[in-house]
This record gives sequence, structure tokens and C-alpha cells, in this order.
Amino acid sequence: MQENRKTLGQYMTPDLVADLIARHIPSDAKSVIDLAAGDCSLLRAARKRRLDLELFGYEIDSEMHQKAQVRLPLAKVSFTNGLTGRLPRGLRAHNKIAVVGNPPFVEFAPTDSMRKILQKAFPNLTTKLGSRRAEVYFLARSLLIAKTTGSTVAILMPISFADGDIYTQYRAELMKNYSIKKAIEIPESVFVATEARTVLLIIDTSSNKTNQIDIGRLDVATGKVKRIFKGELHNGDRLDARYYDGRALFGSTTLNLKDVGVTVTRGHYSHKESKTMELGAIHTSDLARATHGKLSLGTETQIFPNTAELLDDTLAQAGDILLPRTGSRVSWNPVIVSSGCAPITDHVFRIRAPSTSIEAVKNAFMHPSFTAWLKCTAKGVCATVLTKRELLTMPLFADLSSPQNSNQAMVTS
Ligand SMILES: C[S@@+](CC[C@H](N)C(=O)[O-])C[C@H]1O[C@@H](n2cnc3c(N)ncnc32)[C@H](O)[C@@H]1O
Repeated sequence: MQENRKTLGQYMTPDLVADLIARHIPSDAKSVIDLAAGDCSLLRAARKRRLDLELFGYEIDSEMHQKAQVRLPLAKVSFTNGLTGRLPRGLRAHNKIAVVGNPPFVEFAPTDSMRKILQKAFPNLTTKLGSRRAEVYFLARSLLIAKTTGSTVAILMPISFADGDIYTQYRAELMKNYSIKKAIEIPESVFVATEARTVLLIIDTSSNKTNQIDIGRLDVATGKVKRIFKGELHNGDRLDARYYDGRALFGSTTLNLKDVGVTVTRGHYSHKESKTMELGAIHTSDLARATHGKLSLGTETQIFPNTAELLDDTLAQAGDILLPRTGSRVSWNPVIVSSGCAPITDHVFRIRAPSTSIEAVKNAFMHPSFTAWLKCTAKGVCATVLTKRELLTMPLFADLSSPQNSNQAMVTS
């Protein structure tokens, strides 16, 4: 049982979230399907809202299937694989079929027919990333089923689907081929056993273009959804509320690093590789040696002529700002190089600003708002990650409070 729990992702949806999902079943839907029905938590919530709905499900585990039959006898739950099981007979004749889901978030080995489902649902997907995650196949099949009648998919996905770079192409495909109406972040406190942060996606399959997306967060105390952002996004943009908390805090009109000519690079080599090559590269752990935010790199690092060219865009020197790119126990304090020169590892960002904006940029990294912005922007479950693209959107915080800095930054933009 415990084994199944992990391998089949048997974590049932709490009533609060099941009700939220049920609220998004469109009023014109006549049937609802759950491809991974478990004990019927979602179908029961749907039934609670609307007695007239026909309820269908699939469940691969016999014990769970029995439970489902006991808890909701009127639902037609097939004891089979939700990714390959046939659609219930006569279903296509129904007007609108909505799909609800909290699929298993597990690693698995997809079959060829499952890969075809993925390709059909996301026609221009070229990445192999995420292609062993069961949940993306459940999402794909849900979309294809709902699309047969132009209905809605209301599906819970891991937060990495909303914020991770691995899933950028999937998000772009969703935005291009369907209409994402809402992305509602579900705080980790809701799923007590896993403490997983998740996102509920509401997708209208009758449209092949996403316009306005409503991004919000479920308030656990009231069961209501608090809107964080509503507007148009670029295909593939992040969908997590935490990220838009940051945008709401700092506004989108403020100048950011990109506007003032900042460049961000990172090392070519891992910590291990640079050790083997005896590069003396600065790693995240070395940044902790900084005093009062300043780090002298010394002059003992020998840059060999044959590696100098190779390392040119990843050599740190006085005036540069260094910041960890990823890590689980790293200090995320930015460090200013006070003297010396050294290569950096691929875990470290080198932030370099032109002389016209260097003071404004340094002030921004030392500004109290930097930590709040970083909290909203960095992501990841085990190790936290920040991307170069996101870093370049960092606002010039000092610019917010100081007209002097604002003018300086304006001139250089
Ligand atoms: C995260 S639980 C969700 C259950 C229920 N829908 C809910 O929201 O409470 C996922 C369920 O899917 C079942 N499952 C896992 N793989 C499956 C598959 N390939 N086909 C059908 N069910 C599957 C698991 O046994 C588990 O009961």
C-alpha cells in the first residue's frame, strides 16, 4: 500500500481543492471524466455541485478501484490505465465532456501510444525534458478528450510545471494551442502528506489562443482565490503566483538590469571540472568568504594563455558582482569583487554593468528589496535556481526610492 502510494502517486485531493476544481466545471458540461480517479474525491465534489452530471473515471489500482466503487457507486470507474483505456461507450454523443484531474506526479516509462498522445496534444514540442513524467501525459490526454467537445480541463500539476524551465515549451504549447484561463497556486500546506506546492490549471480547449490569464492563489483559510495578476503573457511565461507577487511588488514600469546594459554570464565548467583543470575557479562556496559583501580574488590565480580566451567571458574582475545561480544550502548574498581576477564555475553568475550604471546596479543588489524579489523569482524544490533571463529582469530597486539613481539609469537605458 505504502509502495503504491509512491509509485502510483496515491495522494488524494483534499475537499478544499476538490471543491475548487468542481467549481470550474462549465455549466454546459454534461459529463465529467477523471483519468486517475483514486477514491473519487474529484468526482464526488463534482456530484455535490451538480446532480445531473454523468461521471466517469479510470483507476489502475484494484484496491483503490474498489474504494472508488464504494464511495461513489453511481460513477462509472473503469479498472484500467487512464492513459490507454478506451473512452466509455457512447460518451462522444454527449454534448460537452469536462475533464478533471489530480494525476500521479511520478516518473514512468511511456509507451509509443502514450508518446503519440503527447505529440498530438502538443504538436510542436521538441524537448525531451519532462517526457518521463506521468502527469504531462495525463494533461495531454485530458486536453485531447476535452477538445473533442470543446470543453474545459481543470487539472492539478506540480508547481514546477508553472515555474520550471523544463516545462517552458509545454507552457508555450498550451498557450498556443488552447486557452489557459486560470493558473491557481495551491500552497504546500494543503497537501499535508507531501507538502507539495501545486498549480491548478483551467484550460478552455475550444479556443486555440490564450489571451488574458488570471493568476491567483488559493487562500486556505477562506477557500477563496486571491487574484495576483491578470493580463496577457508571452508564450511559455511562468504561471506561478509567487513570481507575479514580485511583479506586483515592484511594478513592471521600473527599469531593470537589462535596460541599463548589464550582462550576465556564468562559468563554462562545473566545480569538479575546474578542479581537475586546476583553474582555481570561484564556486558558490567561495562567495561565503566575502567580508561586508566584498571579495578579493587575489592575484595568485594563474590564467594560462590557452585557457584565457576560452574563459574570457567568464573571468570575474574588480567591479563585477557575483551571485550563486543555484544551490540548496548556498548563501544568496551578492558579492562585489573588490580586486583580483579569477574564472567562475557554472554555478556562479557574473553580473557586469557599464560604468554609466554600475553604481545604480550595485545599489540595487544591496537594496533590502533584493531579498524579497529573489524569494519571488528563484524556484525549485530541492535546489533553488535562478535563470539569467530572470536575473536580467531584476528591477533597479534603488531607482524606486532615489530620483538621482533614477535619472542616472534613464540616461543609460
Ligand atoms: C494523485 S491520486 C488522485 C486521485 C483522485 N483523482 C483525487 O484527486 O483525489 C492519483 C490516482 O491515480 C491512480 N493512477 C496512477 N496511475 C494511473 C494510471 N496510469 N491510470 C489510472 N489511474 C492511475 C493512482 O492509483 C491514484 O489513485
